[in-house]
Amino acid sequence: MKPNNSSPKLSRRGNVDSFIAMDMMSRAQALEQSGRDIVHLEVGQPGSPAPALVREAATRAIGQSVLGYTEALGIMPLREAISQHYADLYELNIDPARIAVTTGSSGGFLLSFLATLDAGAGVLLPTPHYPAYRNMLKALDLEPVIWPLREADDWQPDVAGLERMIASAAVPIGALLLASPSNPAGTVVPPERLKALAEACDRLGVRLISDEIYHRLTYGSDAPTALAFSPRAIVVNSFSKYYCMTGWRIGWMVVPPDMTRTIERLAQNFFISAPAVSQVSATAAFAAIEELEAIRSGYAENRKLLLRELPGIGFDRILPTDGAFYLYCDIASLTNDSFEFCRRMLEDAGVAATPGLDFDPERGNRFVRFSFAGTSEHMMRALERLAAWKPMQR
Ligand SMILES: Cc1ncc(COP(=O)(O)O)c(C=O)c1O
Repeated sequence: MKPNNSSPKLSRRGNVDSFIAMDMMSRAQALEQSGRDIVHLEVGQPGSPAPALVREAATRAIGQSVLGYTEALGIMPLREAISQHYADLYELNIDPARIAVTTGSSGGFLLSFLATLDAGAGVLLPTPHYPAYRNMLKALDLEPVIWPLREADDWQPDVAGLERMIASAAVPIGALLLASPSNPAGTVVPPERLKALAEACDRLGVRLISDEIYHRLTYGSDAPTALAFSPRAIVVNSFSKYYCMTGWRIGWMVVPPDMTRTIERLAQNFFISAPAVSQVSATAAFAAIEELEAIRSGYAENRKLLLRELPGIGFDRILPTDGAFYLYCDIASLTNDSFEFCRRMLEDAGVAATPGLDFDPERGNRFVRFSFAGTSEHMMRALERLAAWKPMQR
């Protein structure tokens, strides 16, 4: 056989877009290494460490345990603690057998897509949305179907829109991926609307995948769980955000009883198990609510401060933000290129934010997202710098 000296090609499925928020963070860190002082409002991660109880549990586990592989669906004490959390917070009785512990919610999404959708299926993404959804779907040969939410509807999905999207999509829709509170807008879907959407999904044969990773981070009414409204919904959640454990890579999903074995087989093969030390430590997280509520109050103060001050600086069109820790601002009056706007804001003003293109490939050029998960000093410094930044002074 003739030798073939050309290098083996890369896959088409691996050719996904980068996660622009992460790219912005890398650029911000490079500037910091060269001696610049940067305020980070680009990445959605808490400025606080994991709760003391979690860190103590980790120290004990490292000193005393083997920390080998665990059951693929997670250690039973953690699954029981998560089940108790549903009883305490939502008054729902969830069998621990339906709970799978995952490597962050990211692992939960991968398992959800693989368990429920065959290649070519469409997944409705109310937009703006968390960008990894569509990039992960593309890598799996699934079809992200953008559902553009509108200001006139309060940036909320509804049943009429769902039916319209299903009827007009070029591919059969297998799932609706809904996040409430959402990233980047922070909108919370109220209970009656979530109930109607969940029931419509069941009626139309569409799987509801509910991203509840920002639950407990709300500033008005609590966010309802899809588990209250549909026996077929998959709920994906995480210890990353409210519990301040991003780097511990630990989350969970709740699946219908007839899906647990499928999830277990996939999890065995893809991950073997979630990190053992994180599982043992996360079991203590639900006992740390006092510490975590104090952190949430800090976000609430940051949110109040930004909502009060940003309009005077020129960011005067901010989407309704009832949860998570983001403000999504319409900056059409300032630019039609949010990527370039954020690049200059970083280089000139030393404030890192995320351009809307990450969250909305069609309309994102006129939006920017600020994260208020940092400290109040960070927020003050960002506001001072933005107020002094030339493009804002018109
Ligand atoms: C809406 C949403 N879902 C999921 C994730 C992934 O988080 P993790 O894998 O850390 O649980 C994020 C992270 O920012 C997010 O904003």
